[in-house]
Amino acid sequence: MLDPLPIALAAIATLTVVLVSTVKGTGWEPTEDISDEIVERRANSLPETGFPEPGNRAIGAGGGGGAIPAGGEGGEGELEEGGSASSGPGDIPEDEVEYFEVEFAKQGETVELANDEPILEQGEDQGWDLPYACRQGQCVSCAGRIADGPSEDFVEHDNQQMLDENELEDGYTLTCVAYPRDSFTIETGEAP
Ligand code: FES
Repeated sequence: MLDPLPIALAAIATLTVVLVSTVKGTGWEPTEDISDEIVERRANSLPETGFPEPGNRAIGAGGGGGAIPAGGEGGEGELEEGGSASSGPGDIPEDEVEYFEVEFAKQGETVELANDEPILEQGEDQGWDLPYACRQGQCVSCAGRIADGPSEDFVEHDNQQMLDENELEDGYTLTCVAYPRDSFTIETGEAP
């Protein structure tokens, strides 16, 4: 006959070893697996969010192309320069604004015009009904004539596109985009 006690003890010991090894196994393996899963899930979740990934792609693939037009339009330049002369003839710091005596022949008045605003606007500020249409230098509705010589000896145009060199030489100016740079006499409503 076999003594049942040693058999029972052996069985208990075997079960104990199995249980301990099982517990140790489940204690290690899931930790490693979960880490890998988390990394994978994060990697997979990036394209799904659609937010950081497309932005990074845009910068990486077209960063140079994106930066050039931004600089070309002067957006950053204007901010950094604080509105320096490079942005336009009217971008003059307040403490550097100058005034010139300008005679409006047809109105019969001489007024002081600042060099940081177009002639047209400053004439309108006087209450005069001066001609205009586009206000962007792209027609000749606002044209006037400075009889004393080439208009650009007396004004600086901000991107006028209508007057040719001969017309400028004859004293014509587009008052909507013309900033005074000296004193002069102007006849408004005079187109070439
Ligand atoms: S209003 Fe058109 S050019 Fe001045």
